[in-house]
Amino acid sequence: MSTIHDIASAMVKQGQGLLAADESTGTIKKRFDSIHVDCTAASRCEYREMLFRSDAMKEAVSGVILFEETLNQTGSDGTRLVDLITATGAIPGVKVDKGAKPLAGHPGETVTEGLDGLRERLAEYHDKGARFAKWRSVISIGDGRPSWNAVKANAHGLARYAALCQEAGIVPIVEPEVAMDGPDAKHDIDQCAEVSRWVLSAVFNELYDAKVDLEGMILKPNMVVPGQHCAKRASIEEVAEKTIACFKAEVPAAVPGIAFLSGGQTDLEATAHLNAMNAAYDLPWVLTFSYGRALQASALKTWCGKSENTAAAQKAFDHRARMNGLAACGKWSDSLEV
Ligand code: 13P
Repeated sequence: MSTIHDIASAMVKQGQGLLAADESTGTIKKRFDSIHVDCTAASRCEYREMLFRSDAMKEAVSGVILFEETLNQTGSDGTRLVDLITATGAIPGVKVDKGAKPLAGHPGETVTEGLDGLRERLAEYHDKGARFAKWRSVISIGDGRPSWNAVKANAHGLARYAALCQEAGIVPIVEPEVAMDGPDAKHDIDQCAEVSRWVLSAVFNELYDAKVDLEGMILKPNMVVPGQHCAKRASIEEVAEKTIACFKAEVPAAVPGIAFLSGGQTDLEATAHLNAMNAAYDLPWVLTFSYGRALQASALKTWCGKSENTAAAQKAFDHRARMNGLAACGKWSDSLEV
């Protein structure tokens, strides 16, 4: 049986990254609404099966983060979706948090819930084939935000979750997201850098207190970027430089890999930023992708809920996954996009 160290290393295998296909039912409904497709258990299954049967799964995808529902679904020929993923060589994982809920006494801030009963759920997910898990905490920047209480509560939750995962032989993806989107995300890149450092420092302190084995986890952070509504945009080089400076200061070298979320970046931005970091810096950890939107957006639009579009949608997904696989080695260039 693989140890959590083996699984964590396999999740960040050179030239591969993670596909985040773990949108909750509410989130995937929003994505399906954008292409005017009814969101049902069957349509979610069909869409995700299409992704998991794509060619690029074997080459560029080391693991797939699933929503709990998908762990129990079977594809068109009766194969469990988990088995489809495993057959490609990728590792199945599962989102285990119950979402970011309003933090009492702190308007505009959230704390991620889901610890109650988590030990029992992890045992069940492991039985169903999941070998890693994900828990996302969201920190927003704005008027008086983040508060220390929000940073502390979210960091503590991530650490308790991570310790429970490791006890169950499951690798925790620790995801503290400093959000770049939201109606008042006007902060500049330096504010993002400052808050990201604060949050990462709090998270690693809590992970230490909780006795989490850093070699058996993956960090899934935001890149250091300006807020969506900040007028002052940043160049690709500036994002790469400030993101690397932040992680070199806060992330111990024992962590095998950092797999970024895309967070609202365009497909090309997410690829170009990852590439710039890998091309220009000497790093102690593997830097790769764990994208949801930036891997799926073009495939989703091409698919549009029609089975006759399956091959074209798979082609769109293959292309994005391969581009990000190259970016994970610093070998991507804009000219490959045409
Ligand atoms: P995005 O890449 O769309 O931000 O999603 C990644 C993810 O898993 C968020 O929790």
